[in-house]
Amino acid sequence: MSAFDSPPRVGVWMIGARGSVATTAVAGCAALTAGLRPATGMLTETPPFAHSGLPALSLLEFGGHDIAECPLPKRAEALAGAGVLPHGLPDAVRAELAAADREIRPGAREGGWPEADRLADDIQDFAQRRGLARVVVVNVASTEPVAGGPGLPASSLYAAAALRAGCPYVNFTPSAGMQHPELVPQAEESGLPHAGRDGKTGQTLLRAVLAPMFAQRALEVRAWSGTNLLGGGDGASLADPAAAAAKNAGKARVLADALGTVPEGETHIDDVPALGDWKTAWDHIAFEGFLGARMVLQTTWQGCDSALAAPLVLDLARLMARAGELGLSGPVAELGFYFKDPVGEGPVALGEQYARLLEFARRLGRTR
Ligand SMILES: NC(=O)c1ccc[n+]([C@@H]2O[C@H](COP(=O)([O-])OP(=O)(O)OC[C@H]3O[C@@H](n4cnc5c(N)ncnc54)[C@H](O)[C@@H]3O)[C@@H](O)[C@H]2O)c1
Repeated sequence: MSAFDSPPRVGVWMIGARGSVATTAVAGCAALTAGLRPATGMLTETPPFAHSGLPALSLLEFGGHDIAECPLPKRAEALAGAGVLPHGLPDAVRAELAAADREIRPGAREGGWPEADRLADDIQDFAQRRGLARVVVVNVASTEPVAGGPGLPASSLYAAAALRAGCPYVNFTPSAGMQHPELVPQAEESGLPHAGRDGKTGQTLLRAVLAPMFAQRALEVRAWSGTNLLGGGDGASLADPAAAAAKNAGKARVLADALGTVPEGETHIDDVPALGDWKTAWDHIAFEGFLGARMVLQTTWQGCDSALAAPLVLDLARLMARAGELGLSGPVAELGFYFKDPVGEGPVALGEQYARLLEFARRLGRTR
């Protein structure tokens, strides 16, 4: 690239492009680019990532698939009304929201390989028309029930489309996506990087800190029970026990990996529409200390889910764009920091995952 060339633009193709997380990511990226808000919650805007060769936020262009029709500016108004986005922000970034909305194509609920080709054509058309150097596909669609029947679930159709369009892929949800058995060999052959799955933004983030603490202090966890109350689209989707099962499997894996055993206790997810995007997560941890002394730790997390998730989606899109540019392929285990149920092998404790992420950030910069 000569000094006079403009830097290449990068596409972020979101599956579930009209959902809360996607809308917050588009509005947030525009707000940061315009200098309207600070980048709180985004790791890739912190100093360790400054020399990783990541695309600037101003170079990201958004599009995606959805089965919903509510235009993004209207969706953003609803999120501002609910206090998720700052008052006035949807108006300030209306042009960017409308531009992303024009790039949203009808999604698929089910289908076979021809449907995956149709979805891939949409992505390639986006890349060509907009002159994008590459496109990262990010799944932020509603959580699917645990896959089991014949054929590909929708999340895996989209993952197949990402492979066919030659795109790095991120699964921010617990759905099967690229990990469906029919796709695993294709993913291996593709030479493309993929990361996932299920963003770690609340209860599991805390668990990834606390469970290693109990193990390192040689305290015995007797039971770990959790309850989540949330509304919004995610709360409604997770009211389906099969979808909640997909989510809870990732939460349990963090405990099993950190403690070396699955402790007694369950995790529940309750849909409380009145709470909207605000989630309350309680954990109750019964543990035992020296000479069998019995103790309890209780935590209460009250988070705004989309505000926690959207900066991570932007981080992941930038990191995976760079990974794609460098020709990295296969599961990117170094991004385990971001996920409940990370692909590949890696540490479970958040501190170790952060150290690994920083090493990855340095590696992305060294290979410039
Ligand atoms: N917010 C968080 O903190 C967080 C953390 C981890 C994972 N996630 C996951 O991110 C996803 C999005 O969360 P959200 O709060 O934005 O949910 P949401 O309900 O607001 O948005 C989901 C969007 O997906 C769309 N969709 C559903 N089926 C689709 C299909 N077959 N094709 C294309 N689009 C489809 C819906 O129409 C909707 O617009 C969920 O799976 C959630 O579990 C969120």
